Amino acid sequence: MKFQFTLNGKPVALDCEAADTLAEVLRNQLNLNGTKVSCEVQVCGACTVLVGGAPVSACTYLTYEARGKSVTTIEGLEKPDGTLHPLQQAFIDEFAFQCGYCTPGMIMSAKALLDEIPRPTRDQIIHHMDGNICRCTGYVPIVAAIERAAKVMAEESKT
Ligand code: FES
Ligand code: FES
Repeated sequence: MKFQFTLNGKPVALDCEAADTLAEVLRNQLNLNGTKVSCEVQVCGACTVLVGGAPVSACTYLTYEARGKSVTTIEGLEKPDGTLHPLQQAFIDEFAFQCGYCTPGMIMSAKALLDEIPRPTRDQIIHHMDGNICRCTGYVPIVAAIERAAKVMAEESKT
C-alpha cells in the first residue's frame, strides 16, 4: 500500500503491507528505534506514539490507519537545537527510569495528557498513565517527573 502521513512534522511517503504495524514500520523501515516493543498485545504501553495527538499502541496500530494523519514519536519531541522536551528533561531530573525501555512510551503518553490537561492532579496523572507499565523504576518518580514537566511548561507558557 502506498500512502503518506506526517511524521514528526515532516511529510513521509510509505510503501508497506496492509498488515504492517506502525511499530514495525517506524523501527524497521524508517529507522526510528525510539519506539519500543515489549508485550506486542496492547498491554504495556512501551510502544505508545501519538496519532493526531492521541496516544496509540504502535504494536497493534496498523500503519495504513495513519494515512493522511500526523504521527509523533519520541524522536519528534526535542527541539531542532537539541534541547530536550520538558518531559524528557524531567524524567532525567527525577531519575524516572532505570533500563529506560518503558520511557519513550511513558513520555509520549504523558505528553498526550499534558496537551489535554496542562496542570493535571496527581490522581489524573496516575489514572492516565495506568496503561503504561514499568518493570524496574517504580511509579513514584515517574509521576513526579510528569508533575515537574507540567510546572516547567506552565512557566514557559508565561514567557
Ligand atoms: S508493546 Fe505495544 S502495548 Fe506493549
Ligand atoms: S525503566 Fe525499566 S521498564 Fe521502566
